[in-house]
Amino acid sequence: MQYKINLLLLNILSFLFLTTCEKQKIKLSKQDDLSKDSVYQFLKKENLYHYPEKLAASLDSANLNHRQIYSFCQKISDSNQKMLLATAVCQKIDNYTNENKTEYWSSIMFDLERFGEYIEVVRTPEHKSFMDVGSANGEKLYAALCLGFEKVYGIEYSPELLEISHDFLESYKNEGKVALRLADALAVEGEYYAQADLIYMYSPIKDHAPMAKLYHKIFQNMRNGAILIEVRMVYSKELRQISQLDFPNMMGLFAVRRQGNHYEYLTYDSYRKNWHKLEKLPQSAK
Ligand SMILES: C[S@@+](CC[C@H](N)C(=O)[O-])C[C@H]1O[C@@H](n2cnc3c(N)ncnc32)[C@H](O)[C@@H]1O
Repeated sequence: MQYKINLLLLNILSFLFLTTCEKQKIKLSKQDDLSKDSVYQFLKKENLYHYPEKLAASLDSANLNHRQIYSFCQKISDSNQKMLLATAVCQKIDNYTNENKTEYWSSIMFDLERFGEYIEVVRTPEHKSFMDVGSANGEKLYAALCLGFEKVYGIEYSPELLEISHDFLESYKNEGKVALRLADALAVEGEYYAQADLIYMYSPIKDHAPMAKLYHKIFQNMRNGAILIEVRMVYSKELRQISQLDFPNMMGLFAVRRQGNHYEYLTYDSYRKNWHKLEKLPQSAK
C-alpha cells in the first residue's frame, strides 16, 4: 500500500515538474520572439532601474542580449540609464588578470556610471569616434557604443583580454564599428592616436615616468579638436618635464583638448565648464 502511495506521489511530482518546464519553455520562446517594440517597452519601464543590482537578473529573465540593449540605447537619451544597462551587460564578461607584468595595471576597471557622466561633460556632437588605451575586456568600448559613438578603437597588450573583447564585440566589429589592436600602447606608431575624436585611458602603466611618456605620445599625435581623458592623473610633474607645458597639479579625472597649435585643459562644476590654455613653462621653471 505504502509503495503505491509513493508511486502516486512520484507521478504527481513528475507531472508538476514537466508542466512547469513546459510553461517555462513557452515563456522563454515567447521572450525570444520579443518584437523590437516589446523590447523597447520592457527596457523603458522606469522601475527596472530602481534596483541596479537586480537589473542583470531582470535582463536575463527577459532573455535580452547585449545587441538588443545596444539598439535600445540608440533610441534613448538618458546616459545614466545607458550606463546602468551597460554595467548589467558587462558584469558577465570575464576579466582576465595578467599577474606577470607587474609594471602595468591589469584588470582594475573604472566605474561605468562615472565614466558615462564624465564623457557627457566633455563630449560635443562632433565627437563621433572613441578610443580606449588599455581596453581590457572591451567594457568601455561597448559603453561608448551605447553612448552613441559610431566607431570605437581599443588597444590592449594582453592577448587574453583582447580575445575576450573580441568575442564580446565581434558582431560590432563585423559591422565596422569596432577596431581592436593587440599592441603595447607605448610602442605603437604615433599616428594610431590620430584616429579618434575622444581618447580615454585609465592609467595603463603604474610608474609615473613611462605613463607621462605614453600620455605625451598620445597628446602630440591627437587630431585637432580631439580630447584626451585620463582617469588617474597623478603624474603632472613628469608631464611638465616632458612637454615643457604648465600642466596643473590636478588629481584624478583630467581632460585635455587640442585646439590647433595649442592645448586646453578642463575644469567644471555643476554650473560651468571652462577650458584653460596650457601655457608654456616659464624659463625659470625649466
Ligand atoms: C586599469 S585597466 C583599465 C581598463 C579599462 N580601460 C577601464 O578604463 O576600465 C588598464 C588596462 O590597460 C592594459 N595595459 C596596460 N599596459 C598597457 C600597454 N602598455 N599597452 C596596452 N595596454 C596596456 C591592461 O592590460 C589593462 O587592461
